[in-house]
Amino acid sequence: MRILVLNGPNLNMLGLREPEVYGTQTYNELCDYIMQEANYRGIEIIIKQSNSEGTLIDYIQDAYYDLFDGVVINAGAYTHYSYAIRDALMILKCPKVEVHLSDIDNREDFRKVSVIRDAVTASFYGKGFQSYVDAIEFIYKTKKG
Ligand code: DQA
Repeated sequence: MRILVLNGPNLNMLGLREPEVYGTQTYNELCDYIMQEANYRGIEIIIKQSNSEGTLIDYIQDAYYDLFDGVVINAGAYTHYSYAIRDALMILKCPKVEVHLSDIDNREDFRKVSVIRDAVTASFYGKGFQSYVDAIEFIYKTKKG
């Protein structure tokens, strides 16, 4: 099983950005954690990060041809206003899961809106790094039945 994990803007600054919200662990630690949890389950993971909307859309479109078993996306702030990322996700046929480190329902009002929500199969948020593992497990169970 192959799963693509996409991270959007500012996630590369984890550990430095708003540690009171996102914690002190770095982006590399997040990637290591995801890889470790996936390896343990025998799942191959490809992780990509971009600060730009167009590049994230290119990655999503590439995933259409690369035949991943699922895509996990933390679109960062694009979650709240990028109809272009939403439209790109609509094209994908595989399970797609929205994740967030923080609990976006209990922060500023603008974060309560996810414009990608209706384009994804499931959403996990508010559990820090564990949100990604929940998403990977969801895809694993969906595909294995
Ligand atoms: C985030 C939540 C977004 O609102 C924010 O813009 C981010 C990170 C999260 O993982 O909690 O960049 O997606």
